[in-house]
Amino acid sequence: MEIQLWKEILMPYELAVQELEVKFNHIIKDYRSRNMYSPIETVNGRVKSISSILEKCRKKNIAIENITNEIEDIAGIRIMCQFVEDIYKVVEIIKNRSDMEIRQEKDYIENVKPSGYRSYHLIVTYNVETMEGTRKIFAEIQIRTLAMNFWATIEHSLQYKYRHNIPEHIKKRLNAAADAILKLDEEMSSIHDEIMDAQSSFIIQANIVSEILNNIQNLYKVANKREVVKIQDEFFEIYKQNDLEQLISFAKQLDIIAEGYRAQNQ
Ligand code: GTP
Ligand code: MG
Repeated sequence: MEIQLWKEILMPYELAVQELEVKFNHIIKDYRSRNMYSPIETVNGRVKSISSILEKCRKKNIAIENITNEIEDIAGIRIMCQFVEDIYKVVEIIKNRSDMEIRQEKDYIENVKPSGYRSYHLIVTYNVETMEGTRKIFAEIQIRTLAMNFWATIEHSLQYKYRHNIPEHIKKRLNAAADAILKLDEEMSSIHDEIMDAQSSFIIQANIVSEILNNIQNLYKVANKREVVKIQDEFFEIYKQNDLEQLISFAKQLDIIAEGYRAQNQ
């Protein structure tokens, strides 16, 4: 097939991957802006390369004219989570959305693959708007922890290196590594709550600090410089104490001062 024709076929998939990346990244932003822990850590997307599509057609005996109906992972999204629990939360989020329809679900966490591979896979259909109108296309969403992703990436590159004939002794070590990854995920889950507490107070603190700095910056425009410098020094003193309560009360005081100036300048 001509390159130009491939480009046309792949265009809607490129759009879908871009849109889905934007949407999943927005979920992260939405959580964080509300000072909440996001079950999604990062999102990546890719469109399957022409050579991988051809390889899959050959392996599965798919005619080129049927690729858009028969290959479900031309558009691929990978969602990384910190904890196994988050994966199931993300699946729920996707199930509740009206812009993606789940067509297939594979839980390779409950049903680990013989290779040791763990992940949660969804095949969804997603609509994109093109010059020819609305196109409903397949996308594969892989949801996994950072640890699962680490293992899968290394195993994948070894598969590639050995052309899918990994020697037995390396397979054994990969299996042992998969066990270690499983233990790591379990261990992380058991300290889940503790980590979450620490993270959420870190996010709150980061937001308060940026609010304070913003207020101070704005005060420079309207208030007496010496007074602002004094406020700034006071802030640094409180910041050094590393006490969230004090920081919150300072932010409130500063809000009142800033409000006062706003009123004066109106
Ligand atoms: P294909 O779509 O032909 O791959 O077969 P399938 O529909 O049975 O796919 P499956 O849901 O098992 O896997 C789809 C994708 O998951 C693959 O393209 C890989 O990205 C990933 N995957 C599945 N198994 C493994 C594995 O053992 N190791 C690694 N590294 N990735 C895997
Ligand atoms: Mg598949």
